[in-house]
Amino acid sequence: MSEIRICGYRPLSGEINVQGSKNGVLPMLAASLLQCGTMRFTNVPIIQDVACMVGILESVGCRCRFQGSRLSIDASRVIKTAIPQEDVKKMRSSILVMGALLGRTGEAAAWYPGGCSIGSRPVDLHLLAFSRLGAGVEEEEGRIRARGRLRGGEIVFPFPSVGATENALLAAVLAPGETVIFGAAREPEIITLCQLLRQMGAVIAGEGTERIQIKGVSRLYETEYAVPGDRIAAGTYLAAVTAAGGQAVLWGAPWESMGAVTETLCRCGACIEPLPGEGGRILGARILMEGRPRPVRLQTGPYPEFPTDLQSPMLAVLSLAEGESRLRENVFEARFKTAAELKKMGADITVSGNQAVIQGKEGLSGARVRAWDLRGGAALVAAALAARGETVIEDCIHIERGYEDICRDVQCLHGDIRWSA
Ligand code: UD1
Repeated sequence: MSEIRICGYRPLSGEINVQGSKNGVLPMLAASLLQCGTMRFTNVPIIQDVACMVGILESVGCRCRFQGSRLSIDASRVIKTAIPQEDVKKMRSSILVMGALLGRTGEAAAWYPGGCSIGSRPVDLHLLAFSRLGAGVEEEEGRIRARGRLRGGEIVFPFPSVGATENALLAAVLAPGETVIFGAAREPEIITLCQLLRQMGAVIAGEGTERIQIKGVSRLYETEYAVPGDRIAAGTYLAAVTAAGGQAVLWGAPWESMGAVTETLCRCGACIEPLPGEGGRILGARILMEGRPRPVRLQTGPYPEFPTDLQSPMLAVLSLAEGESRLRENVFEARFKTAAELKKMGADITVSGNQAVIQGKEGLSGARVRAWDLRGGAALVAAALAARGETVIEDCIHIERGYEDICRDVQCLHGDIRWSA
């Protein structure tokens, strides 16, 4: 069982190259199935979830090759349309392969997905999208099968689900006729997926708004794409510096998509600025934090609101604030498991329903804690860097699902952190 040991209570200082986006790359890898040549991706994060997605693509017939952070996917020979149960249980995003397989072959089968234990995560909206495009959808004992010749249709989502919007896009780009998605998610990962699909030859308009229009084309083509920086990994490190104090430069942090995060951490007292490059390009972010964080009131929500994925790291920051903070979780109902772990470190957090009230403490102390989920684990790293003494985080396998090497990155900030077997 992998553990991380951290000796905290010292300011951070240094520079990190932010990894490629986990949530950005996963739907892109699924999109590879929509063409019959070889897709080439660069800046691919080397994380467990990518390995799992590559495993699924190989299991349906793709040939995948990694060279450092470059990944090529030859999808000329797709021979299977069923996604193995073990993969689907491991990672919820495996469901994205269904939309792409359905678009390419008219058939896809999977199981109800797994992933982090952060609340009930149904797939009804994904299945709604498939059926609105003309697929017959059957569910039996945890198995899902979708079949049929797709055609354009109107899809109305009652909630802007990121995954369901991606699945709808993947299924619709090759479906003859026009598809309109109402109530679409507006996350930056939707925009980059649409950019990639358009580069492959798809006809799409309106991404980044609640209404996306797709005109089905008969064929898509291979292309090359650089995965953008991970806004959640960058936000995690900004939160760690806000909790522990110090300064950092994050090269490759996608500044334009981090507005709610940088604005919130600035309210907490951090000074965060973009790193300007040539021709008005922004190359990343710089942060400076002195003193204790200030308390805030905050709620999570679909983009452009504050991301639910950074709610747990914010709990760590606010546990150290000079006063009372309130945090409301509006996306995943069971995402406060990390509060109990932070309490072991001395945090004063009261959770009721989807709200947490945090009485900031002058300091936290090291303890033995457990990573219950990916972002909760990263939040414990941030808290431990600020805490006096040693913290041991158990079950860090969850962290590896989304962070290439959190110890390497924090060591770049001169944090005292290491993996222990
Ligand atoms: C994606 C992100 C995840 C992030 C989440 C919300 C990836 C790989 N993962 O997850 O990191 O936390 O967006 O920003 O991109 N829902 C339904 N029925 C459905 C689908 C979703 O009720 O069919 C509900 C979920 O239970 C949840 C909410 O919608 O309450 C948001 O889920 P969704 O946006 O779909 O998240 P994911 O795509 O799973």
